[in-house]
Amino acid sequence: IHNDAQARIAAAQDLTTLEALRVEFLGKQGSVSALLKTLGKMSPDERQAQAPAIQALRQSVTDALAQRKSVLEAAELEVRLASERLDLTLPAPDAPRGSVHPVSQVMDELAEIFADLGFAVATGPEVEDDWYNFTALNMPESHPARAMHDTFYFPDTAPKGGRMLLRTHTSPVQVRTMLAEGAPVRIIAPGRVYRSDSDATHTPMFHQVEGLVIDKGIHLGHLKWTLETFLKAFFETDDIVLRLRPSYFPFTEPSVEVDVGFAIVDGKRVLGGSGDAAGHGWMELLGSGMVNARVLEMSGLDPNEWQGFAFGVGVDRLAMLKYGMDDLRAFFDGDVRWLQHYGFSA
Ligand code: PHE
Repeated sequence: IHNDAQARIAAAQDLTTLEALRVEFLGKQGSVSALLKTLGKMSPDERQAQAPAIQALRQSVTDALAQRKSVLEAAELEVRLASERLDLTLPAPDAPRGSVHPVSQVMDELAEIFADLGFAVATGPEVEDDWYNFTALNMPESHPARAMHDTFYFPDTAPKGGRMLLRTHTSPVQVRTMLAEGAPVRIIAPGRVYRSDSDATHTPMFHQVEGLVIDKGIHLGHLKWTLETFLKAFFETDDIVLRLRPSYFPFTEPSVEVDVGFAIVDGKRVLGGSGDAAGHGWMELLGSGMVNARVLEMSGLDPNEWQGFAFGVGVDRLAMLKYGMDDLRAFFDGDVRWLQHYGFSA
């Protein structure tokens, strides 16, 4: 029994086989157990002679089983560890990376360009009241210019400043800044504005940057220089030709519409050169003018002491021009493929 047991235990390849061997030798019906039972039927002398050998056999089989068991268990653990190991050196899949939206990027660029010219950034609320958006900008109730703004009004609101509305331009920030800080002023005010209008070049929400300079002795020459300097920096070219055209805004006097000259290259408008040159044209870029004396007064400033200029420019339009995008609505669709196409997403 001894040799047979040692050989078969040593050869067992798994715990199930080993357990079967334990039953075969040491179980109730086992061969070693059967030998032990024979001791009970022996005479005392015989028992004394036989017992040590039988008990040693039981001990050696028990030891062999225990030893083989620990070897098999260790091997089994080794297999499991190997199969469950995580390879931390495997390359991880790339997580999609976000990027700054072209509109935000242009607003950041404008803030930087104007910071170099000494302008601070001012902000105002998008939910504005009638007084700041219209009245203080020299558009009293019944002023015909109000009709051109396609205003979103909030129904049933009439606080002190009149009906609440979504601001139709960033110009109310002019008034808020002058009232809050007095003069002199040198600010830009970027932000969202709203008009009830929608086609390829108009969205109900779009972005403007307002500019306002108030000081002593400010004149149209300062306005023209400022706009030229900013547009050259923004479009990264010295070839920017502006045309100042007389216009009308209730809040500026005189008012100036600013056009920029462009050439048509491969069917696309490329800024540069006089719009009057052959193959060229003028593109309307922004509205501006000298701040109307009435607006200065309503903003708490004496027009005999302070003068200034203001301008308002569409940020989305600037982005379209700079990056060659042609449908404004795509700006606000949130389609990552569109952003990728123009190099705005990784
Ligand atoms: N607020 C005008 C608009 O939205 C633009 C403008 C701003 C014109 C400042 C003159 C001065 O059309």
